[in-house]
This record gives sequence, C-alpha cells and structure tokens, in this order.
Amino acid sequence: MTANTIAINQQMDDFDGHHSVWLFGYGSLIYKADFPYLQRQPASISGWTRRFWQGSHDHRGTPQAPGRVVTLIEQTDAICHGMAYLITPEVFAHLDHREKNGYLRLATPITFSDGRSERGLVYIAMPDNAAYLGAASEQAIARHIASSAGPSGPNADYLKLLAHALREMGQSDPHVFAIEQHLADLNHCD
Ligand code: SIN
Repeated sequence: MTANTIAINQQMDDFDGHHSVWLFGYGSLIYKADFPYLQRQPASISGWTRRFWQGSHDHRGTPQAPGRVVTLIEQTDAICHGMAYLITPEVFAHLDHREKNGYLRLATPITFSDGRSERGLVYIAMPDNAAYLGAASEQAIARHIASSAGPSGPNADYLKLLAHALREMGQSDPHVFAIEQHLADLNHCD
C-alpha cells in the first residue's frame, strides 16, 4: 500500500446523511485537537491494543529516518482507552491529511465512560502500510524514539505528551509507560 492514504480515505466519504460522526483518538489525537469538534469525551474501544509500531515519515521522523508513533493491533479482550470527538464530516479533510502516513479510517463501536456506546471511526495504520515498522522490544523502541525528530518536533515529545494525557485521564498503558521509563533511563545515562 502507498505511504499516503488520503485518496483511499476519501473514498469512504459517505456518511449516510449524518451531520456529525464520532471519532476515536488513541495517540496524538488525544492530546492535540487541532480541529473543531462538537463534543469531546474519554472513551474506549475493544479488541485493539496501542503499540508504537508505526513509522512516522511526516510528523516525528523523515522518510530517511522515520520516527515511531502508535497504531492499534488487534488483540482479543484488549481495551484501548482514548478520547472521542463528535465532529462534522468536513473535518475529515484535515484529519485525512494529518493521518496520511498509513492510517485508514475504520468503523468501530466506541464506548463512553457512562457505558453508552456509539458507532464511530478510528484511524488505524495496518501492518500492510508502507511506513509500518512492527514489533521491537520496548527498550529498542525507546532508543529509536530518543534519536528521532520530524517536522512536528522530537519523537520523544509525542511519547511524553501521550503518556501525560493518559495519566490525566486516569488511564494506564503498560506499553506506553514502559517505553517512557526506558527513555527516562536513557536520558539519565547521558
Ligand atoms: C490517533 O491518535 O488516533 C492516531 C495516531 C496518531 O495520530 O498519533
């Protein structure tokens, strides 16, 4: 698959006449809402787990030296906590551009903290996308993040902002927090 997913995502621009759509964010979309929204609520989706397995050519790295950002990996019984936004369909033009490095919109049930559930969309970078990096040890991922930067800034900032946002929501994510700890250990060794 191409490294730019804008055209594929635009083919999904059929919102069945809905004036607003729920979007679930689990990475930078939790802490950086640079788009208009009607509502914002902590939420979760089931059957997916967050992993720093996606390469970033355009935000936290470059095509020559990609950074590492999160995607979702299918895992039975997993629950991924994040932030849901109610947005109007026009906002997807901005989001498709922002998430163009491998992320495809996927329909999913989204569960809110009061137990209510709504259908919505989530951007997921599947293993067949050209920027996918795949599994590595959390220590190796921390080293990779420590040495990467791109147009949106240091890769380490993405990790720290995500970990901070999860803590603010009262959520823990062992994968994210372990990489954050390894990164802090690396910095202490400098
Ligand atoms: C998301 O936040 O939902 C997708 C991944 C990212 O943009 O960091």
